[in-house]
Amino acid sequence: MKKDIYILAIESSCDETAAAVVKNGREVLSNVISSQIELHKLYGGVVPEIASRKHIEKINPVIREALSDAGMTLEDMDAIGVTYGPGLVGALLVGVAAAKAISYAKNIPLVGVHHIEGHISANYIENKELEPPFLGMVVSGGHTHLVLVKDYGKYEILGRTRDDAAGEAFDKVARAIGLGYPGGPKIDKLAKEGNPKAIAFPRAHIADAPLDFSFSGLKSSVLNYINSCEMKHVEINRADVAASFQAAVVDAIVDHTIEAAKMYQIRKVALAGGVASNSALRQAMKERCEKEKLEFFYPSPVLCTDNAAMIGCAAYYEYLAGTRHGLDLNAVPNLKIGQR
Ligand code: KG4
Ligand code: ZN
Repeated sequence: MKKDIYILAIESSCDETAAAVVKNGREVLSNVISSQIELHKLYGGVVPEIASRKHIEKINPVIREALSDAGMTLEDMDAIGVTYGPGLVGALLVGVAAAKAISYAKNIPLVGVHHIEGHISANYIENKELEPPFLGMVVSGGHTHLVLVKDYGKYEILGRTRDDAAGEAFDKVARAIGLGYPGGPKIDKLAKEGNPKAIAFPRAHIADAPLDFSFSGLKSSVLNYINSCEMKHVEINRADVAASFQAAVVDAIVDHTIEAAKMYQIRKVALAGGVASNSALRQAMKERCEKEKLEFFYPSPVLCTDNAAMIGCAAYYEYLAGTRHGLDLNAVPNLKIGQR
């Protein structure tokens, strides 16, 4: 009988300190997330120095809780998976140092994981039938990457943003209409009361790279619209602005994904990252995939935003492929997808 593989996973790349225990890559035995959102709200965004300090305070209790929720100890673990990039260097270092310390003290193999590969792997948890090849559309606060998942651990980037990430655009527009941080979920909620066709915000197309994204023009267009209303003393309808902005982002993401599926003849599409929990995006992607007869996958909201369960899934496939990192593993803030 095949031995079960248990992985303790650690994630600290941005403002969530997280640890999880994952069995055989797809079964989550515990998933502990300590969010710093309340702390960073005061400043309207993540303050890297504060994030690092908070990770140091939380990392050990979060790891202990993940083990005890799973009813297991370090001795039961076959590997330690940890995010080592991309992300905030000081934040990443806390998770990497904790993982290395445990690996050294208990002699457990260490497997470094790419944060975006983790986001994509979140889809494996609730969709046991999902296997590569498929398209992963990663839309988070820091990234907008359209990725061809050729096989486990084998990725090719087909398109990426030239400027702002999708989540970043959500956060900036939310701030401009006075919704506060993090803006994505607030725009999602307010947009339900607005008309997505009220204001014709632009959809960017990049001539020489049709699968690339650009959201900065859209963001400027929203800011200009707000300014011109203010100058004319016309009160803006915030719900219409939210809905119209969101529709422009959703159109770009859905159109590019469907285009890539056709270009590369891929029949499966999976959303990932914080923005993947956006209700309008899920609905629009679902409808377009049905129309084009593509299979559509997406994780539950708790597995869309940063968490360690997704890192445990990605670490499992790396572990099977033989990836092992030494105690010289370092945080790599600009780690490239597919880099080992
Ligand atoms: O994946 P994530 O937790 O962190 C990064 O790796 O960046 O994503 C956080 C981002 C934030 O920009 C947040 O505003 C956005 O995801 N987000 C949403 C929604 N929930 C979170 N954006 C749009 N609609 C949502 N429902
Ligand atoms: Zn993330």
